Amino acid sequence: MTIFPTESLHRVADLDSFLATPPDHTREPFRRLAEQLHATAPDTDPDATRPAVATLIAALRTSRGKHTALLAILLGMIAESSDESLRAAVHDGLPDYLDIARTRAGDNYALALALAYLLAHFAEDREAILVHTASLPLDAGDYARIERCLAPLNPDDPELTRVWPEPRHWRALPDTARELDRQWMRQVPPEQMRLAYHLDTRSLLAYAGAKALWTVEHGSTVTGPDPDLRLPPANPNGHRTRLGDHLAALRCPKCTGALAGDGDTVSCASCGEFPVVDGTVDLSLGAGDAHEPMTRNVPLCYSEIRPAFLRWKGSNWDGAVTVEDEDEYLRTHVQPADGPILDLGAGTGRWTAVLADTFGAERVIALDLSAAMLEHVRRGLPQVLRVRGNALSLPFNDGSLGAVNCWNALQSMPDPAAVVAEVGRCLRPGGTFTLMTFRPAVDPIYRALQTAPFGLVPVALSAPQDLRQWLAAAGMSVWEQYTPGSFLFVTAVREPR
Ligand SMILES: C[S@@+](CC[C@H](N)C(=O)[O-])C[C@H]1O[C@@H](n2cnc3c(N)ncnc32)[C@H](O)[C@@H]1O
Repeated sequence: MTIFPTESLHRVADLDSFLATPPDHTREPFRRLAEQLHATAPDTDPDATRPAVATLIAALRTSRGKHTALLAILLGMIAESSDESLRAAVHDGLPDYLDIARTRAGDNYALALALAYLLAHFAEDREAILVHTASLPLDAGDYARIERCLAPLNPDDPELTRVWPEPRHWRALPDTARELDRQWMRQVPPEQMRLAYHLDTRSLLAYAGAKALWTVEHGSTVTGPDPDLRLPPANPNGHRTRLGDHLAALRCPKCTGALAGDGDTVSCASCGEFPVVDGTVDLSLGAGDAHEPMTRNVPLCYSEIRPAFLRWKGSNWDGAVTVEDEDEYLRTHVQPADGPILDLGAGTGRWTAVLADTFGAERVIALDLSAAMLEHVRRGLPQVLRVRGNALSLPFNDGSLGAVNCWNALQSMPDPAAVVAEVGRCLRPGGTFTLMTFRPAVDPIYRALQTAPFGLVPVALSAPQDLRQWLAAAGMSVWEQYTPGSFLFVTAVREPR
């Protein structure tokens, strides 16, 4: 056990009031303490924080219950710093953390999660940490997550982007799928491999920290896959497409001229033919090709990734927003003017199916930049026209679409303001734009964990006031805004031009 002589400890003003607060009232004092220690800043200021770390470790040792768990999370957040001296200062408390894990976390899931999050920062002590955490009351996924955070990079099988929300789902994929991944991973240059591995670790840590914070402050969490998101079975008519109904809305992505075709071919009189692959019209001009190998197996883990992503980014740890709620929102808020209904960033098509059920498949177009995603739309919804295209430059004529839906996708698109501008350009007056995305959490501690990277995939949270400005600039007015947790559900209406 590390011994810190009390007289040498740096005084942390807000620590005393935090420690003196009863467990039910720790919320505000804990946030003041975290703020005083700059723990929620994107990169904690080492000089301001380092002197306080030994004091926090000493307090962790003598505190009890919820206070201990919150201090462990705070120390974990400080260890996130890219400043090695700060991380090393937190590492000095390792014997205490292991001792607490061994003696005090036996039946306390919240404390176990908090300690696991903290300990997962110290890969150099992997063996000792795994021994001590093996008896913690963690679930198999929590444990697999720590194990991966502590594991050294294996360049022969680096599992890049294949570990979140926990590695077991990815390791359970069929050998053929795993081999496909290994093929592209082998091509990644060593430096990029190290960066990608590091970013994967950061997202696992952030997820673990967010889960720990939620559990300590609110109690149990909903975890696991959502069976409602399983991929639809393959449909024997999977190649059928309905290009004819939508030709008037589509335009050439190069010259913006008219397109002609019959579903097997699509062409522009000036720019020539565009690829049609298994009935999916490719108007992407190659924009998504670089990411395609990385995306290919994502649909196979979708029922695990998506609910976990909503828990983390949407603060949906209590499952307050259900898949049924999402379906209901679309059924009641999509109100199309004449013209096709676009599902923008359709993914595997789970919500395209809701639009197709509500308005008829022949009216719906699924657009995504990923061929792998659209392949799953094809399997389940062969009657829906699939367009591989770029949200930043939509291949549709001005005022040609009856409604646009962008569901859990704006955050993954590189320039959300530009996407909203494109939606406004393509929407017909009176048509709705429905959107589900995420806003930065109001709580600065949760926000610091929420905004950590999602591996290599950029994620941009949208502040409601920014979104309103983008919508107004694109000729749309907000009809309804709903913000449970840190979700952002918005329905806007295209105004007359
Ligand atoms: C998180 S998925 C959401 C899928 C689905 N709507 C859902 O709710 O689960 C986001 C989708 O946006 C797509 N996407 C990302 N950037 C895009 C872009 N620039 N243009 C079109 N689609 C894009 C991705 O390929 C991905 O399928």
